[in-house]
Amino acid sequence: MLESNCPLYNTLTDSDYAPIIQLQNVYKSYINGQISQPVLHDISLDIDAGEFVAIVGASGNGKSTLLNLLAGIDKPCQGQVHVCGSALHQLTEEQLSVWRGKNIGIVFQFFQLLPSLSVLQNILLPMDFVAKKPKRERLERARYLLDLVGVSDQAQKLPSQVSGGQQQRAAIARALANDP
Ligand SMILES: Nc1ncnc2c1ncn2[C@@H]1O[C@H](COP(=O)(O)OP(=O)(O)OP(=O)(O)O)[C@@H](O)[C@H]1O
Ligand SMILES: [Mg+2]
Repeated sequence: MLESNCPLYNTLTDSDYAPIIQLQNVYKSYINGQISQPVLHDISLDIDAGEFVAIVGASGNGKSTLLNLLAGIDKPCQGQVHVCGSALHQLTEEQLSVWRGKNIGIVFQFFQLLPSLSVLQNILLPMDFVAKKPKRERLERARYLLDLVGVSDQAQKLPSQVSGGQQQRAAIARALANDP
């Protein structure tokens, strides 16, 4: 535990204590035709670096909607979303997609692997988009990640040719590709 007389404590600044994820008074509604369906109503929360958090609740009550806001996939109707020091509610779609590629690894509820790419190509794609890793390291990393999740023998198949659990594993490998 850090204490105030600890040398490390004295070298830390206020920003070192800022939550890594912070939502302030967030509202999110979906528009279906003329009807607005409120899903998130005045949500505020702080999550610190290293915290392991589970969001639980009944089906349809807004968990994926909340995760989409934290991951910069969607924007709030109102309120502020700060993640890793970035004000996501203020970024353009283009800025958000660059930010996501560098910072976020997400396993989608329905995996969302690209159907025309092999399992291996699905892992390579985010690395090629973001170019965080040198090109020569990407293939080796993709193979390493597929091995880590136990589907290296499925690398050349299309997602439709592997099982649901294998797709889920490939989606986990893809989420780790850029070391988010
Ligand atoms: N793109 C959308 N357009 C319109 N309504 C949506 C959309 N996505 C979700 N909803 C609605 O918003 C509500 C919250 O959906 P969400 O997907 O966040 O729920 P969830 O908590 O993740 O549910 P589950 O546990 O079933 O995955 C639901 O009532 C859903 O019907
Ligand atoms: Mg969901």
